[in-house]
Amino acid sequence: MRTKRKIILKKPAKILIGVVGSIFILLLVVCILFFSSRSALIRLGYSKEASFQILKQWKKDYILEIGKNKTLNAAFESQDYLEKNLDHYQKIEYQNQKHLIRNINQLLKIGYSDYEISMILKHGDDSSVSQFAKRKKVRYLEEFFSIPYAKLENYDRYLAYMDEAREDEETTVLHVNLDLDQKDYENSVEVKKFSIDMFVNKHHYLGKKFKVQDLVPIDSKYVVGTGKEKANKEAYQAFKKMLRDMEKEDLHILINSSYRSYQEQEETWNTYQQLYGDNYVLKYVAKPGFSEHQTGLCFDFASTSSNIFANSKEAEWLFKNSYKYGFIYRYPKGLESITGYNHESWHYRYVGKKIANYIEKHNITFDEYYATFLD
Ligand code: DAL
Ligand code: ZN
Repeated sequence: MRTKRKIILKKPAKILIGVVGSIFILLLVVCILFFSSRSALIRLGYSKEASFQILKQWKKDYILEIGKNKTLNAAFESQDYLEKNLDHYQKIEYQNQKHLIRNINQLLKIGYSDYEISMILKHGDDSSVSQFAKRKKVRYLEEFFSIPYAKLENYDRYLAYMDEAREDEETTVLHVNLDLDQKDYENSVEVKKFSIDMFVNKHHYLGKKFKVQDLVPIDSKYVVGTGKEKANKEAYQAFKKMLRDMEKEDLHILINSSYRSYQEQEETWNTYQQLYGDNYVLKYVAKPGFSEHQTGLCFDFASTSSNIFANSKEAEWLFKNSYKYGFIYRYPKGLESITGYNHESWHYRYVGKKIANYIEKHNITFDEYYATFLD
């Protein structure tokens, strides 16, 4: 019978096993601590990557005290993280921008406060903030950027316009956002997509091939003379509903002009230019491509009771009630400097009830509405 041989370890081997075992246990404890800490940070709202970096930088207690903070999360995810700016990151409002942390570091270096940086980030995108962070500290920051719709990339134009036009900050921001500091028809933006709230003026134009959505023919009974007119379907239906209600009050309107293609606007412009000259067309007729009529969303009305539409009962009724049907009086009196055209009592634009109600309630132009909410 074979007898089992007992393995007798020598002393050095015993020590070695002891050391390896201890290291293993230590590593296990470190791993458990690491993963439980990381889970706590993830539960708090930090990403896996940010949590790893937080632990690596020994900032766990700092973060646990603060709780969830999106800017801090972005900072720990970023290669641009700087420990000396930690307290600033925490106070600066987060924006979803690719180089957020790099830009914050740069703006801090220039000397902006956390509050000012939050303001700068809010009014720009990644590229405009990056550009802004390259320049020296600027004046009038709060004056312009406490206005919600101020745009960072327009900063120099605001400054130039305020000095030149001597307007207050709010008017300055509004006018520059509407490109009123530019010459008419210069540096214009092409509007490519149809929408009920689309904005067309002397700085926003439509291409020759712009397609109006749901363009439908208008029944000839609604049209002056033998003209053939078309309009966007929703705008046309709103018009018919409005007219039905007007007729209940013995008021009658007809359509003089509604949709005009690029070529038709060109003809209109040429006709009036030859008849009345440049000054007239500048004030009353849009250049081809720059007319709202090309959207199919507006109507020039005529009254059957008066040759001068502005003096008719119908004009008075429309002025007071058309918003209830989604229409706005597009070129009001006294606001030519904003709309770009002399007032036109006959020209109504369909924008839908919600916007029309807002414009009526706040007594503003569509231009102002656009600069505030749509741009
Ligand atoms: N009369 C308006 C401004 C137009 O031509 O579109
Ligand atoms: Zn018109």
